[in-house]
Amino acid sequence: MTTQSLLFGGPAPIDAVHLPTHAVQLSKSELNQFFTPAWAAEALVEQFFSDLSSSDLVLEPSCGKGAFLQAIPAHVPALGVEIDPALAIEAARTTGREVITGDFCSVELPTGITAMIGNPPFELSLVERLLARAAPIIPMEGRCGFVMPAYFFQTHGTVERFRHQWEIQQQMIPRTLFPGLSKPLVFALFTRSTSRALFGFCLYDQAVQFDQLAQDAQRILTAVAPRRSSWHALVENVLAGFGGCASLQDIYQAVAPRRPTGNPWWKEQIRKVLQQHFTRTTTGDWCLPAAQAWRAWKIKGLRGDRCGLWSTFGAPCTLKRTPQ
Ligand SMILES: C[S@@+](CC[C@H](N)C(=O)[O-])C[C@H]1O[C@@H](n2cnc3c(N)ncnc32)[C@H](O)[C@@H]1O
Repeated sequence: MTTQSLLFGGPAPIDAVHLPTHAVQLSKSELNQFFTPAWAAEALVEQFFSDLSSSDLVLEPSCGKGAFLQAIPAHVPALGVEIDPALAIEAARTTGREVITGDFCSVELPTGITAMIGNPPFELSLVERLLARAAPIIPMEGRCGFVMPAYFFQTHGTVERFRHQWEIQQQMIPRTLFPGLSKPLVFALFTRSTSRALFGFCLYDQAVQFDQLAQDAQRILTAVAPRRSSWHALVENVLAGFGGCASLQDIYQAVAPRRPTGNPWWKEQIRKVLQQHFTRTTTGDWCLPAAQAWRAWKIKGLRGDRCGLWSTFGAPCTLKRTPQ
């Protein structure tokens, strides 16, 4: 099944297009030939590229009939690339712009391109190759703005790959721009930057951090626990791991590789959690509330000779340890 038939939910047309001899013969459906309405291309250029000037050079990398090329103001230099020669001729004729016939992944491009705008085929691997091609060409702070299916951004793994060289912002646009399309669409703006900033995304950074945590830390953060922040749950787990009590330094050391967020004030965060929810012994150790410590002791037994500790919880030191 082709991308187009997946997206549009209907059978794909099978009429083949005449491609340059070096290109693979692909059907129009495989080339994702559905075209942006002129009014929408104009509105997107106006909203996201209103600062273009005569010193820019804009590339429409898969220009189709030329909707975006036509929408770029006449005083801004622009050119298109289109793999389908018939469409390339049509776009050049309609817009008066140069249109190179070929594959945007490999075609020779002029120097000085400062921006890319368009609606590339809805193939993730193709868009990744397009962005990889654009990254060394587009100057810092330069932009690529593309109509894309929202599912390109559905995992933090893909977004991580994209943001390697780009800051990304995205906004939803109506899928009804393309009659019959069944999947949500976005207009995504990729700005050349080392900031890796994301706009219009939520939880992506946290999902990356979560993946890096140890499995037991992931379990703690995943379980729904009543009235516990993730820091609270983590400190509690660390104390249980120490048999109920631990020094502040031991707690820092155990928490450090399992921090649930990138909070630079994490030690302060731990001290706050300790003060709010845990007990301090006369020797300066921090302990689970007695009942929890008792349970932790029963599960894990005590490590080392910390008999003194148990008086903190009211447990007699003569109690036999639970075998480990
Ligand atoms: C979704 S249509 C969009 C056309 C135009 N950008 C628009 O918005 O109306 C995608 C276009 O990319 C062309 N295309 C597909 N693969 C291409 C490639 N590798 N290089 C250049 N053009 C390609 C198709 O022939 C098709 O015209």
